[in-house]
This record gives sequence, structure tokens and C-alpha cells, in this order.
Amino acid sequence: MIKNHKNINAKISAVAGWVPDYVLTNNELSQMVDTSDEWITTRTGIKERRILKDPLLATSDMGKNAVDVLLEKRGISAEEIDLIICATVTPDMLFPSTACLIANKVGAKNAFGFDLSAACSAFIFALDCGAKYISSGQCKKVIVVGADKMSSIVDYTDRQTCVIFGDGAGAVLLEPEEDQLLGIRDSILKIDGAGGEYLKMIGGGSLNPATMNTVKMGHHYIYQDGKTVFKFAVTKMADVSEEIMKRNNLKGEDVAWLVPHQANLRIIDATAKRMSVDTDKVMVNIHKYGNTTAATIPLCLSDWENKLKKNDNLILAAFGGGFTWGAIYLKWAY
Ligand code: UT7
Repeated sequence: MIKNHKNINAKISAVAGWVPDYVLTNNELSQMVDTSDEWITTRTGIKERRILKDPLLATSDMGKNAVDVLLEKRGISAEEIDLIICATVTPDMLFPSTACLIANKVGAKNAFGFDLSAACSAFIFALDCGAKYISSGQCKKVIVVGADKMSSIVDYTDRQTCVIFGDGAGAVLLEPEEDQLLGIRDSILKIDGAGGEYLKMIGGGSLNPATMNTVKMGHHYIYQDGKTVFKFAVTKMADVSEEIMKRNNLKGEDVAWLVPHQANLRIIDATAKRMSVDTDKVMVNIHKYGNTTAATIPLCLSDWENKLKKNDNLILAAFGGGFTWGAIYLKWAY
């Protein structure tokens, strides 16, 4: 008999972030490519980003560090974890999945897991997915990790992309919540594959496996048509944020925090404006970390954790390659 578990709510019960020590500033970048602190700051809002310099370390190591902090904060052992979902576009390798590597590194012996690919929207897609494992009753403790070593796929001779991205990881723990009003309340997730050509990395997959030529052509680096992506991002992120507010009867003043993907400060500002959310209620750390892809949202939650209050209404919103985009409405539970 299938039990009806539809009343189990999923809540975030802990958050953690981890970034590497090395700080790559706009000034250092302006010695590498033809750019300036002024251009980067005014066009993106980024001042510096973190880079994982050690060539022996990868996305799973940053994810492991974030998960270690998470487990310690919640005071639970790795063996209690049922599921690890890793959101990333920079897996250590195509397989095994980065979730398997993280599970092994943290000692999550009883967990299953998998990677989720949705570029900059991957964390919210994974959060929604993890919440469904809680609400189905299948899992009691789910870790959602967003981790990306973007420096491994950035061409540091291309000024259009190298100024934007940084490395980092964040993780949240999902657990069942008895109070029906708390936790993850609603989600709207979307994809449009027609946008795929504007933000992609074409080398290394089954279509263009690695050859001398793919390396020579730079096909193992990010390609982005920034202007086109910007136009879609600015519209779609705001559309979906407005839609989720409307269908949950939320006005701007009801939102305690907007937690936006950190791709460009101008996109974040436009989204907040459409939602009628004041700028002091918007989590922004793009100046410190740049765009860490799947890690931006959990890194924001981690940076703001001590300001969050039980019952706060949070809207998480993201847009990324694919195209992928979406928003999640949740009530903070602790
Ligand atoms: O997170 C996943 C989703 N990604 C996004 O949401 C990113 C969306 N796109 C963007 O954030 C912006 O398009 C960028 C930050 C990538 C670029 O900003 P922009 O205001 O759209 O600049 P642009 O590409 O229109 O370039 C304007 C000018 C160009 O020069 P000309 O043609 O006007 O002479 C570029 O060559 O700025 C030039 N440029 C630069 N100049 C100095 C481009 N990159 C740089 C640079 N430094 N780093």
C-alpha cells in the first residue's frame, strides 16, 4: 500500500558555505586581460572572487568541506544522511558523480546520491528535488550541495567570461517539519532548451569528445553570449519571482529576503524592483565571490544565516544556462 505522505513538509534545518582562500581581485584580472576594476564593478557588481588554486583539489573537495561544516553545525553524523544531491556544472569527472565522491569523503555510508545538472539554477532545482524526497516520506535527512570550481572551465584570456566566475560551495540540510506553515512552500521551475546555444561548454561530452582540436579551439571553456543571456535572465528571473509571489498572495513587504542567484548586480536589482522588495532585503554577496554558479544561493544563505528569523518569507530565484530558471518560496524554520 502506498502511504499518503502529502502532509510532510521539508524544511532547511542547517546551512553551510565554504570558499577557497585565494582572492582574485579585479586589479589582478586587469593585469591578465584588457579590463578594469571600473568596468567590472559597474557592469557586474563584482570586486573579487575566490579561486581553488591547488591542482589536486576539485569540486568534491569544496563540497566535502561545506558538508563537514553543515554536519558539525547540526550536530549529526554523516551516517545519518539518506541522500546527497550535488548541483554542479564542474563535476570532478563525468563519472563517478560528484555526489558519490562527496559521500565517500564525508563518510555518508548510508546515503545514496546523484548529481543534478541545471547550470546556475541547479541549486534550486536540487532543493526542490530533495524536498520531494522528504515529503514522499522516503528520506529523513537530505543534503543539497551546490558546488562549482568554475576556474577549471574559464578561459583566463577571455575578458568577457573570466571576470565573472569564481569557485565555491554551499550546502543545506533538509528535514521533515511538523508545522505545516514552515519550510518549502512552493516552487516554479522552468527550462527552455532553445537558449542552450547562448551559454554552453561544447567540448568533453559525447558530441565533441576531447581531441587535440577541441583543446586547440577552446571548446573546454565556457562560451557565453552575455548580452543575450542578460536579456533573458533579467526578464525570466523577475517573471517567475513575481508569479510565485502572486500565487502565494505575497506583496513586496511580506518578503523578508530575496535570495537571488548572483550573476550580475543589475539582474538582481531589476528582479527586486519588479517584486517591490527593498534593496536592504536582498542578499547580495556578488562583490565577494562573483558568480559561483550552483553555489551562489547556499553561500548567500550561509552569509545571512544569523540574520534569518523563524517565519521569515524567503524567495529564492535563479537563471542559468540551458536556459533554466525558477523560484522557490519558503518560510524559514529556525
Ligand atoms: O549565471 C548564468 C547566467 N549568466 C548571466 O546572467 C550573465 C548575463 N550577462 C551579463 O551579466 C553581461 O552581459 C556581461 C557582464 C557578461 C557583459 O556586460 P554587458 O553590459 O552586457 O557588456 P557587453 O557584452 O555588451 O559589452 C560591452 C562592451 C563591449 O565593447 P564594445 O563592443 O562596446 O566596444 C565589450 O567588448 O564592453 C566590452 N567588454 C569589456 N570591457 C572591459 C566585455 N567584457 C569586458 C571586460 N572589460 N571584462
